[in-house]
Amino acid sequence: MSLMQTDFTEASSAPPNVMIIFGAGGDLTARKLIPALFHLSNARLLPESFAVLGLDRLDFDDDGFRDRMAEQIKAHVGEVFDQAIWDWLLARIHYMKIDMLSGPDYELLCERLSRIDAERGTEGNYLFYMAIPPSLFGKVTDHLGEVGLLHETEDDWRRVIIEKPFGRDLDSAIALNNELHRNMDEDQIYRIDHYLGKETVQNIMVFRFANGFIEPLWNRQHIDHVQITVAESVGVEHRGAYYEEAGAMRDMIPNHLLVLLGFVAMEPPNSFEATALRDEVNKVLDAIQPLTPEQVLTCAVRGQYGAGSMPNGEQVQAYRSSQGVDPNSHTETFAALKLGMDNWRWAGVPFYLRTGKRLTAQYTEIAIQFKRAPTIMFKDTEVEELEPDMLVLRIQPNEGIQMSFGAKVPGPTMKIGAVNMDFCYEDYFGNKPATGYETLIYDCMKGDATLYKHADTVEKGWEIVQSVLDVWNALPPREFPNYAAGTWGPPAAGDLTKNDGRLWRRIEIPKARGR
Ligand SMILES: NC(=O)c1ccc[n+]([C@@H]2O[C@H](COP(=O)([O-])OP(=O)(O)OC[C@H]3O[C@@H](n4cnc5c(N)ncnc54)[C@H](OP(=O)(O)O)[C@@H]3O)[C@@H](O)[C@H]2O)c1
Repeated sequence: MSLMQTDFTEASSAPPNVMIIFGAGGDLTARKLIPALFHLSNARLLPESFAVLGLDRLDFDDDGFRDRMAEQIKAHVGEVFDQAIWDWLLARIHYMKIDMLSGPDYELLCERLSRIDAERGTEGNYLFYMAIPPSLFGKVTDHLGEVGLLHETEDDWRRVIIEKPFGRDLDSAIALNNELHRNMDEDQIYRIDHYLGKETVQNIMVFRFANGFIEPLWNRQHIDHVQITVAESVGVEHRGAYYEEAGAMRDMIPNHLLVLLGFVAMEPPNSFEATALRDEVNKVLDAIQPLTPEQVLTCAVRGQYGAGSMPNGEQVQAYRSSQGVDPNSHTETFAALKLGMDNWRWAGVPFYLRTGKRLTAQYTEIAIQFKRAPTIMFKDTEVEELEPDMLVLRIQPNEGIQMSFGAKVPGPTMKIGAVNMDFCYEDYFGNKPATGYETLIYDCMKGDATLYKHADTVEKGWEIVQSVLDVWNALPPREFPNYAAGTWGPPAAGDLTKNDGRLWRRIEIPKARGR
């Protein structure tokens, strides 16, 4: 699988296939999917027998759609753009206008696919990518099932990539899984979370399990607590109407943050096979203690941003003034949680999670704070207390790993200062332009579901947050907006750690030094 490869150029190309994109006229296709295919073809990872079929209700023919993609590609792949690579890909891109809710259109789709398959030699392997609103997932797969396009044989495969959100609460997540299972086996379903395509997320496992010195420290004996921060400096942009229905908790915690937590807290899997890895993540989610309604009041914090000033001086409007947002909205744009785990490795170690929009910086990290060393040796010196050592796994930007620890400040007296050892991926391995979708699309073509989410994982994630959603729903917030744009969230989030005698880490984003 791709996980253990340090360089894509060493990997073999995917098998022949057609990637059929539902929602080809949308934002995701232009910004992420086509650029990801460009990067894959640049790395020679797409097979010669490859085609893309874009589906949408826009009125295009093949050439019109190619022109539309060509207009945008340079903006999304930047300086690595290469005309020859693009021409190779472009020649394989097709388009078909379709009403995704109309049965007869799927008969036409079958015919079109058969023709492309015969022309391109794609051997009947179809990857359907659902770049469409989640309300359509079940309807589209029903139609695909009716015309036999989800039927696999020994000679060909049919796989479906589903975009998040996977439901908006536990009941709807179960309903969505049931809808999908009406026409497919679980191993045909690839639920994508592009966070898992990021190098550092995969590297959490390499760091933990390929380095002998780390694992003995990775437990309640040595770790005081873990903080996971997924901060966005952007607001809701043009997605106000969508966000009103979601909110920070639904949008981020059951998927991104709990997946990061799963990878940090998991036991070593027996192998990097999809089932082994997912089983270990599921065990972590099973071990998380669901919050009682009383605990929700002390262990969960919500917030909504008001107008404010971003660090670059930009004055931004309040969430409630955004397009598509109710002026009295109760939707949270910030959520923080304190979770605990009932297992041997992590009993008593709190995991603090926070995420929000319009925070000070666009930044994702996992900070592991180690227990303080005893101060006995320093009792006759000026040192009153030793700062705890901290390991930071930085997911974005400047993916890397930072270790901060105490060192003697030079001079005649004993003083200790915190110093950092910092490793940026870019400094060692160069900057590989990527959207985060390359690894995942390539893995799906290869039939490797390791970095995709299983139905069980999705449902377990929702089980964990459902108790919070229920309490928040029953008790509408009275104090919104409760943090200014450009800050690190509401004061109550600070209390979450302060009440335990801890502090959120002060985040400073190091710059990559370049090679
Ligand atoms: N954009 C992102 O960065 C991003 C990130 C993470 C996840 N996602 C997920 O990815 C999916 C797609 O997002 P997106 O932002 O690309 O959405 P989008 O811009 O709204 O694209 C969806 C496309 O599907 C078309 N469509 C909808 N219903 C149709 C129908 N019945 N028949 C034919 N075409 C139809 C839409 O046409 P109309 O415009 O005419 O409705 C639109 O062109 C969503 O599930 C979203 O949650 C997106």
